[in-house]
Amino acid sequence: MRIASGIIATLGLAGAVSASLHPRSQETRDFFALHLDDTISPSHIAQVLGARHEGQIGQLDGHHTFSLPREQTAQFDTLLNDLRTRRKLRRRSEGIDSRGTSDDPLDKILWSHKIAPARQRLQKRLPPVSVPYRSLDKRDNRQAVAFQTNAMSTLGITDPIFREQWHLLNTLQPGHDLNVTGLWLEGITGKGVVTAVVDDGLDMDSNDLKPNYLPEGSYDFNENVPEPRPLLLDDKHGTRCCGEIAAAKNDVCGVGVAYDSKIAGIRILSKPIDDVDEAAAINFAYQTNDIYSCSWGPIDDGATMDAPGILIKRAMANGVQKGRGGKGSVFVFAAGNGAAYGDNCNFDGYTNSIYSITVGAIDREGNHPSYSESCSAQLVVAYSSGSGDYIHTTDVGANKCFSGHGGTSAAGPLAAGSAALALSARPDLTWRDLQHLMVETAVPVSEDDGSWQVLPSGRKFSHDWGFGKVDTYTMVQLAKTWELVKPQAWLHSPWLRVHQDIPQGDRGLLSRYTVTADQLKEANIAKLEHVTVTMNVNHTRRGDLSVELRSPAGIVSYLSVARRKDDMPVGYDDWTFMSVAHWGESPVGDWSIIVKDADVNEYSGTFIDWRLNLWGEAVDGTKQKLHPLPDEHDHDHPYEDAPVATTSISAAPTKTEAPPNPGENHDRPVNAKPKPTEAKPTPVEDVKIPTNTTASETETPSPSAAGSDYISSWLPTFGASKRTQIWIYASLVMIITFFIGLGVYFQLQRIKRRRTTAHDDYEFEMIEDEDEMQPMTGASGRTQRRGGELYNAFAGESDEEMFSDNDEPYRDGLANIQEKDGEDGTSHDGPHHEKP
Ligand SMILES: *[C@@H]1O[C@H](CO)[C@@H](O)[C@H](O)[C@H]1NC(C)=O
Ligand SMILES: *[C@@H]1O[C@H](CO)[C@@H](O)[C@H](O)[C@H]1NC(C)=O
Ligand SMILES: *[C@@H]1O[C@H](CO)[C@@H](O)[C@H](O)[C@H]1NC(C)=O
Repeated sequence: MRIASGIIATLGLAGAVSASLHPRSQETRDFFALHLDDTISPSHIAQVLGARHEGQIGQLDGHHTFSLPREQTAQFDTLLNDLRTRRKLRRRSEGIDSRGTSDDPLDKILWSHKIAPARQRLQKRLPPVSVPYRSLDKRDNRQAVAFQTNAMSTLGITDPIFREQWHLLNTLQPGHDLNVTGLWLEGITGKGVVTAVVDDGLDMDSNDLKPNYLPEGSYDFNENVPEPRPLLLDDKHGTRCCGEIAAAKNDVCGVGVAYDSKIAGIRILSKPIDDVDEAAAINFAYQTNDIYSCSWGPIDDGATMDAPGILIKRAMANGVQKGRGGKGSVFVFAAGNGAAYGDNCNFDGYTNSIYSITVGAIDREGNHPSYSESCSAQLVVAYSSGSGDYIHTTDVGANKCFSGHGGTSAAGPLAAGSAALALSARPDLTWRDLQHLMVETAVPVSEDDGSWQVLPSGRKFSHDWGFGKVDTYTMVQLAKTWELVKPQAWLHSPWLRVHQDIPQGDRGLLSRYTVTADQLKEANIAKLEHVTVTMNVNHTRRGDLSVELRSPAGIVSYLSVARRKDDMPVGYDDWTFMSVAHWGESPVGDWSIIVKDADVNEYSGTFIDWRLNLWGEAVDGTKQKLHPLPDEHDHDHPYEDAPVATTSISAAPTKTEAPPNPGENHDRPVNAKPKPTEAKPTPVEDVKIPTNTTASETETPSPSAAGSDYISSWLPTFGASKRTQIWIYASLVMIITFFIGLGVYFQLQRIKRRRTTAHDDYEFEMIEDEDEMQPMTGASGRTQRRGGELYNAFAGESDEEMFSDNDEPYRDGLANIQEKDGEDGTSHDGPHHEKP
């Protein structure tokens, strides 16, 4: 087994890669998470299960990790299945809350989940391409320069690159900055606030960060040590982000937006990480750290659709509910850099979480950088690279500065720094107050670019810009007198059954749900904030799909856009899209969701079901409870039939992709980007929704459910069930893989022996030689993909269906790992490429 797993790792097959390096020794033991009722102790459960209790999961009360030796895998799978069945039965008979009704210790297990091995699926949000610096027309605005000089002397700023930090005070394009100096002059500099940068480390020896570094808020989850010191050659990203937020006012480099605030580093990006550690990281020291700045996410390749695992989702909910003394951790996420590849931040479960402030980019001339993703979940934009310049900040090294920071990676921390200033003025702001403040004070830009909708609240929203660019000065001014919002209330519609084929071409499948005033009252919602839609769609090519949500007032959220690079033969499996476009709108009336498949081709699908979730401010805060922690999807849910119609939605755009030529320059005026979005939403007037779905007419038996694509029809079926076939093929691939692997393994062993330099690297990093892998990756993507899936099935990721959508991040993860291999190979053994 040791050798086998070594080989799998060597081949770079998903998941397995990390097995041999994981501190939890995943190679010899299976790990699982349990949520326990508080009437039973973890040690008792461990005893009952014959398992080892490994500890609590981060700050998640009642959530614990247990393990069993690998040899007991079969037993273990039976156990998890058992627990799931029990839970289902219990739920059916007694409702969800069944605590304390039974004496059986196993009934004290509220929830169980198998823990997948660590993997490297998160990417830093560096810009995908670097642009040459443009020699800027150096005619600074004289008045602005005078103001700058004056402010510097009043504030005692002597930082050598402060004048390059245009994002703080722009003397070349006055007004294109955070306008933060006025706040500093008022003494609002971030005192008392801590921002944790969750990234690849923080150089606590940098003289620019040292004065504000907070060890108590910091941890290295990659090395399991308290200091988040950058160790890999390219561990610079986190330090640069830290500099933007909290570089000290001294004689080194520049200053941070909140230069008297504290900065902590939580290191997670430099090695594969599992969900348990990631969940712990996102809640790390959450009574000390106020803001979590996250400039990373699933790869932005326009083909990935990936969300945090259930433990991480729970940790985020836990953070906003319990962090910061109950005021809520403030999560700030970079929107993503995949716009040029047709990516959209609603395909990323971190940026489309209602718990995160999603920040896109705007450049120093006010243009929309070609990398910055659009989506209905984007709250604001902040400054970053483009139009020939970058963000100038601190770098790794005692006195090192960096003048090439960019991508949405650099935009997020500026919003985080702004939030730090707001919190230093008003420490009592909740996580939702900060979102409100951003919404209220963001400044719409490029208002004639056709991307803006005027909302009933009078505000404007654009999928490209959110509510506009962050205006730190105005935001903090408003924060001073801001009346705190009441607790969060919500309304979840029932699951709405559709089960109809999606027409191809110009027409879409519309399903409607009506929210009544009574329902709203019952739900205790006074004012709408976020809207989420969870949906299931089967499709043989995910990238063909697009989804719109139309509100009672006719505001359109483009929840999903067609993505030319997304060939996945699945649809949306319980995916949740989010929109902030309906902020402040009255939710009473008809909400319509329209699913489209604009590409007339052989790929087709079925819209199965959906549910609408409204989130907002409570009418009566005193009777509002905290929302239960998110749960896993159960396809076994009760349905309500929704009115459904096939409809023409000619007024609506089908695609909002950027041109196929990825970011040759960042200077392209935003107007050049195809803008299908209409300024004014068109109400769906021509739609006649039958009260009775004409299912018999429109529904045809689906000839190919997504599942049938896993096993091609030309392969023999052995007369076995699909599941068995999968296993047969999986085993075959496994065996073949093993022998190929054996060859490669011994080959690599020889290479390894020849090498003189010993690294303290990952095992899979040995594959610097891409050629070694070519036969596997090159020969047939299909084979290889199946190999990846096979391993998943083997290692087991979740206790859900073997080939449920849950496996999908693995495939993406596979790509990531291979990329990472190359990258690390480069940074350790080859010349180091500076990535701006
Ligand atoms: C920028 O801040 C100054 C205070 O320093 C304020 O007077 C001015 O109105 C702000 N500019 C904008 C455009 O908000
Ligand atoms: C739907 O329409 C059909 C025929 O038009 C009718 O027989 C059936 O009772 C209707 N069902 C409902 C639920 O109204
Ligand atoms: C959708 O696909 C899944 C598996 O991929 C299958 O189990 C399910 O029956 C399909 N649903 C419909 C309505 O086609």
